[in-house]
Amino acid sequence: MVLWVGTSWKMNKTRAEAASFATRLRDAAAGGGWPGVQPFVVPPATAISVVRDALGPESPVVVGAQNAHWEDAGAWTGEVSVPQVADAGATLVEIGHSERREHFGDTDRTVNQKVQATLRHGLTALVCVGESAEVRAAGDARQHVLSQVAAAVDRVPAGSRVLLAYEPVWAIGEKGREPTVDEIAEVTRALDAEYGAVVTALLYGGSVNPGNARDLLHTPGVTGLFVGRSAWDVNGYLDLLRIAADVAHKAGQVSAMTVPH
Ligand code: PGA
Repeated sequence: MVLWVGTSWKMNKTRAEAASFATRLRDAAAGGGWPGVQPFVVPPATAISVVRDALGPESPVVVGAQNAHWEDAGAWTGEVSVPQVADAGATLVEIGHSERREHFGDTDRTVNQKVQATLRHGLTALVCVGESAEVRAAGDARQHVLSQVAAAVDRVPAGSRVLLAYEPVWAIGEKGREPTVDEIAEVTRALDAEYGAVVTALLYGGSVNPGNARDLLHTPGVTGLFVGRSAWDVNGYLDLLRIAADVAHKAGQVSAMTVPH
């Protein structure tokens, strides 16, 4: 099992800042990397090619885009398409983050269209889902998230490269509250039961930091972390990668011990 640990920079970093982050990451990876961990970085569209170039062709780090349109080209002012982000060096597209659903009109339907476009061009789709505080208070978190995922992967062929990121809206960003493992386990267990066998990984995101990462990686069903603020400084991201590599290493030891001889 591989733990996916990545960061979206949201609307942060100039190209120079992006290059400096990516260069540090490249050097850290060259020092042995993070066995059992798949790192990924999702810069703003302006810095995708900068990050790709600074990491170099041999880098194990996956580079993603924060969004892409469902059409390949056309009169869609302000948008970028999947072929365009692929041309810039992205091999993954983040789709349906709660900030896009709230402020930019992403819906279950357009999320599905973007997933289809991403997969059609051979990129990996990272689908973000999560309930608001109101939905959770009403006791509907699990049902809400399951229906978001069902819509996102509607008519998606089996075997497609899809990652899920469960990110409760109430846990994300400056105003977010750190969740307890129990709070998120109810949803991640249900996602794992329904989709664990078909998705590449199930990530948790929302107020992840080096203090809670280890516990969050032990949440039932969770096989990765998707991080904002704590990973915008490269040292924070490197801390998280080290923690994940340690978790992967210990999990490997445990499963080796339980293999029958
Ligand atoms: P945060 O953001 O880690 O800053 O809470 C998470 C996200 O939006 O994916």
